[in-house]
Amino acid sequence: MALNIVLMGPPGAGKGTQAKKIIQAYAIPHISTGDMFRLAIKEGTKLGLVAKSYIDKGDLVPDDVTIGLVKERLAMDDCKKGYLLDGFPRTIPQAEALEVLSKEIGREVSLVIDIEVEKKELIRRIAGRRVCKNCGAPYHVDTAKPKVEGVCDICGGPLYQRLDDNEAALEVRLTHYEEDTKPLLDFYKKTGKLVVLDGGEGSDRLFEKITSILGEVSDDNH
Ligand code: AP5
Repeated sequence: MALNIVLMGPPGAGKGTQAKKIIQAYAIPHISTGDMFRLAIKEGTKLGLVAKSYIDKGDLVPDDVTIGLVKERLAMDDCKKGYLLDGFPRTIPQAEALEVLSKEIGREVSLVIDIEVEKKELIRRIAGRRVCKNCGAPYHVDTAKPKVEGVCDICGGPLYQRLDDNEAALEVRLTHYEEDTKPLLDFYKKTGKLVVLDGGEGSDRLFEKITSILGEVSDDNH
């Protein structure tokens, strides 16, 4: 049975960190709309230019652009055995579009994991986050240091601070989370697919909880 997972949570909750562990353990593709936009920005494509004008300020990229991108990606062959959506959906129209398009292609969402962390800790994490320019692996200047300063442990790439990881953009991102994304929790609660986890725990402990939930989901579907 395919694991079709949606990972939700505010900026800095640890979605990217858990996503990297999940895709490695379950061999499913990681579909992060944030990563897709950042790649388009790096490559200087038309999509990148549009996305940059929103992302740098902390605003959401318009729904039509984002939905089109995910629709194309979910239809690809490697999503046949499952997928991990990270950062999508983020608005009610995106969630509604996902319901329709995932049904159309027979790849309906089986589980929604929401990672919750208190605001003070989110600010601490985002302020200290450094990311690998090559592979996107996240680090933290105090609590998740690389072995060699400024160098990724995994691929040796240089670490940098994201442009939207500043105080002003973070405030806008947190407001979008509260106003646009949080209402999705009610939407998914009604489907019975939502699991809410405390992301204030260490990332290894959180991953243990996620693997135990994923085990139950795949058992239920056998
Ligand atoms: P996106 O890239 O999705 O960013 P985000 O949702 O703001 O989330 P982050 O990447 O900031 O945080 P994370 O939860 O992945 O945390 P991480 O694991 O890195 O989106 C960026 C932008 O793109 C959006 O603002 C928007 O403009 C646009 N966009 C994307 N999707 C869109 C959509 N669907 N619609 C419209 N626009 C869209 O961890 C953070 C830090 O904490 C790291 O330093 C890490 O080491 C540390 N950490 C992680 N877990 C733990 C832990 N358990 N304990 C202690 N520290 C931890």
